[in-house]
Amino acid sequence: MADVILKDLVKIYGRDIAVRGIDLTIPDGAFVVLVGPSGCGKSTTLRMIAGLESISHGELRIGGRVVNDLDPQDRGVAMVFQSYALYPHMTVRENLAFSLKLAKVPEAEASERIDRAVTALELGPYLERRPSELSGGQRQRVAMGRAIVRKPEVFLFDEPLSNLDAKLRNQMRVEIKRLQHRLKVTTIYVTHDQVEAMTLADVIVVMKDGVIAQSGSPLEVFERPADRFVASFIGTPQMNFVDGVLSDATTFEGGGLTIPLDPTRFNSLTAGRHVTLGLRPEDIVPEGHGLRPTGTATLQATVTLSEMLGNETLLFAETAAMQFVARMQQPRPVADGDRLTFHVNAERCHLFDIDTGKSLAV
Ligand SMILES: Nc1ncnc2c1ncn2[C@@H]1O[C@H](COP(=O)(O)OP(=O)(O)OP(=O)(O)O)[C@@H](O)[C@H]1O
Ligand SMILES: [Mg+2]
Repeated sequence: MADVILKDLVKIYGRDIAVRGIDLTIPDGAFVVLVGPSGCGKSTTLRMIAGLESISHGELRIGGRVVNDLDPQDRGVAMVFQSYALYPHMTVRENLAFSLKLAKVPEAEASERIDRAVTALELGPYLERRPSELSGGQRQRVAMGRAIVRKPEVFLFDEPLSNLDAKLRNQMRVEIKRLQHRLKVTTIYVTHDQVEAMTLADVIVVMKDGVIAQSGSPLEVFERPADRFVASFIGTPQMNFVDGVLSDATTFEGGGLTIPLDPTRFNSLTAGRHVTLGLRPEDIVPEGHGLRPTGTATLQATVTLSEMLGNETLLFAETAAMQFVARMQQPRPVADGDRLTFHVNAERCHLFDIDTGKSLAV
């Protein structure tokens, strides 16, 4: 049982600052996902928690103890890497047993812990095989088993699924979530896959350039992005953005669109203010091909490309003044060059300051 508290955590490499002051409180048992573009400092943050990187500045507490200067093995954490890091010359059983042997865990208890991990991860059939005789997904399960048998207070995962194919990744994602529900161990999970982040997290932490851009529940971050960066990073395909101006306190004009605004949803709506409007693809619906939005505005646009995904179709379309992506929920064939009427769900639009990118939502 352990909570994890990061206070102004900083990592400096020579002249470069990789992590610029992270403040984060992770309650005991929570599943927290760090997500963000490549190079934003996710792995560095995780490695500081693991004790694999020194902490340049700030304080790290695990289960109430300041652990800045503790060795990795004394922090009560277990880390699972993208590369699995299994011992190639050992069997699965030996891989699972190794850290327990090092920690001098008595034989009977060690084999009980191993049995439990083997059952939880369905590794029974592979115990006498070496890693080279396993599939990627099986290796990943062994790597997780090795973390579980140590009974850590905190699990740390660094992109554990990124070497797996799409189907296996989905399966393993579900397994990790189930396992965490069962074991209730505090988990910090790094990924740059926002679907993984949305589905696994109790709390998503979106990072950018070594700082936290926003943290919150997946729904909060999706529905109420703090700024344009978070809005564009969370959600696939990404939110559409249109620059424009408030022609009066309740009307956006830009990109050929006139959108009525609900003044109770936004701050500082003053006539003449320059803003960026954000619309998710699901809130631009071609006429007759999905739920008809309420609070609607319409526009005519020409389809430049359609992507049929089975359960939905993405339409890339343009007008003289803007390009956008729309999501069609009841697919029908659409040809490039087709001219369609789209209904814009104005009630769900987002507004950002045109310069700072900060959300104007109340
Ligand atoms: N050992 C190191 N020495 C110098 N700079 C480093 C070192 N490790 C990482 N960095 C730099 O720190 C920054 C953050 O790196 P980090 O590995 O934490 O990114 P990340 O968010 O995990 O990215 P990715 O999604 O690509 O794994 C990067 O600019 C990287 O170049
Ligand atoms: Mg990384």
